[in-house]
Amino acid sequence: MSTAVNHEPETPGSGATNDTLVSVEGIKVHFPIKRGVILDRTVGHVYAVDGVDLAVRRGETYGLVGESGCGKSTLGRAVLRLSEPTAGRVVFDGTDLSSLKGEGLRRMRRRMQMVFQDPMSSLDPRQSVESILVEGLRAHDLDKGREETGKRLRSLLSAVGLPNTSLRKYPHEFSGGQRQRIGIARALAVEPDLIIADEPVSALDVSVQAQVVNLLEDLQEEFGLTYLVIAHDLAVVRHISDRVGVMYLGGLVEEATSDDLYAEPLHPYTKALLSAIPVPDPLVEDRRERILLTGDLPSPANPPKGCRFHTRCPWKQETRCDTERPEMREVLPGHKVACHWAEDIRANRIQPHAVEAVLVEEDGISPDVPLVGPASVTEAMNP
Ligand SMILES: Nc1ncnc2c1ncn2[C@@H]1O[C@H](COP(=O)(O)OP(=O)(O)OP(=O)(O)O)[C@@H](O)[C@H]1O
Ligand code: SF4
Ligand SMILES: [Mg+2]
Repeated sequence: MSTAVNHEPETPGSGATNDTLVSVEGIKVHFPIKRGVILDRTVGHVYAVDGVDLAVRRGETYGLVGESGCGKSTLGRAVLRLSEPTAGRVVFDGTDLSSLKGEGLRRMRRRMQMVFQDPMSSLDPRQSVESILVEGLRAHDLDKGREETGKRLRSLLSAVGLPNTSLRKYPHEFSGGQRQRIGIARALAVEPDLIIADEPVSALDVSVQAQVVNLLEDLQEEFGLTYLVIAHDLAVVRHISDRVGVMYLGGLVEEATSDDLYAEPLHPYTKALLSAIPVPDPLVEDRRERILLTGDLPSPANPPKGCRFHTRCPWKQETRCDTERPEMREVLPGHKVACHWAEDIRANRIQPHAVEAVLVEEDGISPDVPLVGPASVTEAMNP
């Protein structure tokens, strides 16, 4: 985790500053829903990402969290222009990516790499590790001949903690954690500035998760990398991120430094997510207040009007909540939230309708709140 820096914004929406490596401004990604074999009619849209502004600063780790289906991966793919945005723009190191095509886009893409959740499906099983890594180098004209490339591959393997003998092996000969190291080496091979890691450890055992997270942190320091880490596990995000953005149904609802977000969540949705994390101290755990969300996550094809969270929000008010979509506003320094009533909720001027203090069951996890990170992950990362 790097030291986050504070600078004056130059673009008010995304909070982009001179220190920004990549900013996303008003990004929307809507997928058409098609019906009919012959006419192929568009009968609606999935509003996967629906107006997101954010800025990732050079050298920092920005963690993006939210329930399954809220649009995290689609947003990550839009940053890389793997999903074409319906609206908005992505600015990478001062260049609007939509202005680039062909060779210009290819050169810019080298600087942005992706690490995927499931290394088994993202690595071609028929290719040896050597050919997987060389392929990336060749795609960007970085294969400098047998000797120099050999040296480069060995140093990449050493950076990710794999032996040189790995070059001749195939993905199925490795464990899950080792395969993720290969995926990271592949991303590193082309010397990127930004790595978008989409659920980089969620397919791994808890003990291996900690090793891979620690590796990502070491590599960040060694190579000055900037990370956008997408995860549903709040413990992992808290550990690795300088700043965190919380997504709900295609939009950002809260953004703050990791410490501020976990110390004082301001958005009712974030409060509910954090209240579901088990606390290691049994006395605190027994008396812990849980905010239970009622109702299912609405469909992104038919998101609620007004505040998208109003159908599940325990603090929902008679006015504004179901008619006006709240904008992200800076409520505390560096801490933004999209809720009309954030100040009143913070000052306890309005009370939740249905907060229940419940004794947490033995397994500690309520099925109603899926975004729970095991406390042991953070412990394993801080031995
Ligand atoms: N290519 C596509 N065509 C149509 N709908 C899509 C497409 N890709 C994603 N979606 C839909 O967009 C919404 C957001 O999906 P996305 O994969 O971005 O969510 P996510 O937050 O990454 O979820 P998860 O945590 O499960 O990975 C979902 O409803 C998904 O079904
Ligand atoms: S705007 Fe209303 S519904 Fe939305 S989070 Fe705030 S209080 Fe809840
Ligand atoms: Mg995803």
